[in-house]
Amino acid sequence: MNNEPVIRIKDLKKHFPSGSGRFTALNGIDLLFSKGEFTGIIGPSGSGKTTLLNIIGTLDTPSEGEALILGRSAGSLSAKESAALRKSQLGFIFQTYNLFPVYTVFENVEFPLLLQGVESSQRRKMVLDALEWVGLTDKIRSRPAQLSGGESQRVAIARAMVKRPAIVLADEPTANLDAKNSHNILQTMEKLNRELRTTFIFATHDEKVIGYVRRKIFLFDGKVAGDEIINKN
Ligand SMILES: Nc1ncnc2c1ncn2[C@@H]1O[C@H](COP(=O)(O)OP(=O)(O)O)[C@@H](O)[C@H]1O
Ligand SMILES: [Mg+2]
Repeated sequence: MNNEPVIRIKDLKKHFPSGSGRFTALNGIDLLFSKGEFTGIIGPSGSGKTTLLNIIGTLDTPSEGEALILGRSAGSLSAKESAALRKSQLGFIFQTYNLFPVYTVFENVEFPLLLQGVESSQRRKMVLDALEWVGLTDKIRSRPAQLSGGESQRVAIARAMVKRPAIVLADEPTANLDAKNSHNILQTMEKLNRELRTTFIFATHDEKVIGYVRRKIFLFDGKVAGDEIINKN
């Protein structure tokens, strides 16, 4: 059970309609991901990184082949089943933070717990824990417009982590951050990865991110062009 991969991808293809034909964005991907990985999917723009993350995150479905996410087949889940899987087990971090501008920091982080129906005093405790993990306890009443980019991304990390999901998917999480803030959020994610054993998968071409990951999967033209384990402690 312990060694069972959290994600199992087999001969995965994704075609998008294009003009009168179709464009193949993922062209036969085979990958296994284990619990607790801290992995970068690295490749140039257009190589298929976001498409792959979206399928792992059950936001999109395979055209051919299979993607098993925590034992569930991404292609055969109903909309309701995939929403339930995302709600309980998957966290998302995006390049543009995607915070609700009218909500406070506390309310933004609380939102996934409201969706899950977590009871109020438990919710409060979980939100405060998550804000402590990212060092933003003093900003709970701020709104996104009052935060720096680095702080906004730390709120997004807290929101992704608050329900303690099995897997966090981060699409170019440092693309809008300067070097100092990029290192800061990567160190935060690395700490959470080690302490909570959350599986992290990043899509990136940022050298700063690449320096932190313990596995590098290179994507090129919708195919895996390399897969390296980095040995570090
Ligand atoms: N919904 C879509 N419809 C048509 N083409 C798409 C769609 N999504 C992605 N693509 C195409 O698939 C390729 C891979 O895109 P994407 O996964 O976003 O790459 P990356 O994240 O590596 O930049 C690109 O050529 C892109 O234009
Ligand atoms: Mg992308």
